Amino acid sequence: MPDGYELTDEHLSFREVIREISRDKIAPRAAEIDATGEFPWDVARTLAENGLLGLHISEEHGGSGADTLTFCIMVEEIARVCASSSVIPLVQKLGSMPLLVAGSQEQKARWLPAIASGDDLVSYCISEPDAGSDAAAMRTTAVRDGDQWVLNGTKAWISMASASSAFSVLAKTDPDAGAKGVSAFYVRRDDPGFSVGRAESKLGIRGSPTCQAYFADCRIPADRLLGDRNRGFTYAMQAFDHTRLVVGAQAVGIAQGAIDAASTYVAERRQFGKPVGAFQGVQFMLADMMTETSAARQLVYVAAAKADRGDDDLTLYSSMAKLKAGDVAMRVAVDAVQLHGGYGYTTDYPVERYLRDAKITQIYEGTQEIQRLVIARQLLGRLS
Ligand code: CAA
Repeated sequence: MPDGYELTDEHLSFREVIREISRDKIAPRAAEIDATGEFPWDVARTLAENGLLGLHISEEHGGSGADTLTFCIMVEEIARVCASSSVIPLVQKLGSMPLLVAGSQEQKARWLPAIASGDDLVSYCISEPDAGSDAAAMRTTAVRDGDQWVLNGTKAWISMASASSAFSVLAKTDPDAGAKGVSAFYVRRDDPGFSVGRAESKLGIRGSPTCQAYFADCRIPADRLLGDRNRGFTYAMQAFDHTRLVVGAQAVGIAQGAIDAASTYVAERRQFGKPVGAFQGVQFMLADMMTETSAARQLVYVAAAKADRGDDDLTLYSSMAKLKAGDVAMRVAVDAVQLHGGYGYTTDYPVERYLRDAKITQIYEGTQEIQRLVIARQLLGRLS
């Protein structure tokens, strides 16, 4: 299987554009978004107006039909200045994946244009209070009643839930069949019996609302089933193959943002009569931070190219990209705080935010432990 990727002139020009948008429109808001914990509708609007919420959707359905590498560059550059804001396009892609993977032509034509324009933000509902890493243990049910489905249950940890108007929902249609009894549905915010709870108070990505979602005899039309009944778990895993690598891109962006801040600081801060950046110990730390971040970026870009080529080893590479980049982001952010000394521990400098934001990349879209499990299974199969 080929391992490379090609960074074309189009990718590089796109990076300049998204860098400018991030610098001018998002970076100035980042500290405030984190401090208030309010969803940045202005940022969502900016992304929508620039066609960035439909980057991954085909032109036929109103998007730009950009490749996965372009998508990763976008998320990376936004995360470099504001991780909370980078969750917006990241979840827009995740939430639309079941529709992209399993939706009929008619369903895609009906729902994708509003997602592509950003009129609909779309969340992804798989986890539950008692079904996190063990996603197949979900208990939310969907029962067919005439020409409707009736959903009951509670979903948890739903990123962007209070901002979204549409939801991809995984629910049990055969509760005794484990992963083989899960189906995928498309739910609208105003569907009867559907509601969203209050936002969790979180360590990081504080401007991205994470809520529970409740289904109390929630009735949706029969044609909201995506793909085949009882095949939903496979669609959910296929979705992750395309989006775990995007969390990797987000982690690379956070790491790069922490390096940017630390480089500026050590060049300015003087101790013992010279900039602290003149000390070899500090230089070596920065050199390691940059090398590790660059290595993680290469793995993310290779995984992105694999997604576009449809390579057989995408599952392996997507998990490896997320694992490597998430761990690098966490280490780099810790070191960036260290390089700031006491100042890094305060909200006067952005690195404590990068540290808090980095942590989520080791947790969501499958913990690092789940990525290792996926990687090992790709290597060994299922030994018992
Ligand atoms: N592609 C296609 N099919 C796949 C697949 C893939 N990558 N991975 C698994 N499957 C299929 C399997 O082939 C199997 O189907 P068959 O029985 O027909 O062969 C079926 O799915 C079940 O697979 P497993 O037996 O491997 O399932 P499992 O119960 O052992 O679980 C798991 C596997 C990898 C641990 C999975 O449960 C998992 O990914 N857990 C983590 C959940 C997760 O990532 N949650 C994140 C929540 S969303 C989020 O965080 C988003 C956000 O906020 C931004």
